[in-house]
Amino acid sequence: MKTKIYVCTNGKHCRTNGSKKIFKHLKDHEDKLCDKLKVKKSDCLGFCKHAPAVSVGDDEKVYKCVDIKTCNEIIAKIVS
Ligand code: FES
Repeated sequence: MKTKIYVCTNGKHCRTNGSKKIFKHLKDHEDKLCDKLKVKKSDCLGFCKHAPAVSVGDDEKVYKCVDIKTCNEIIAKIVS
């Protein structure tokens, strides 16, 4: 089963804080791990003060102030 990752790319705060770069980085991994994860763009997740925000999995765990290092940690958790 694929883990769904939603990156807030449409909210103003996340856009301003580099969510497109986060989305692209995760999307590159999706290409390599297409059987394990699905990366999607989303509207505001309600964590604008901690932008960029990313929601992961069915339990919708939200990662705040996400950077490339956090992305790699998220991916490592999914593939482990
Ligand atoms: S703008 Fe991204 S969580 Fe609100």
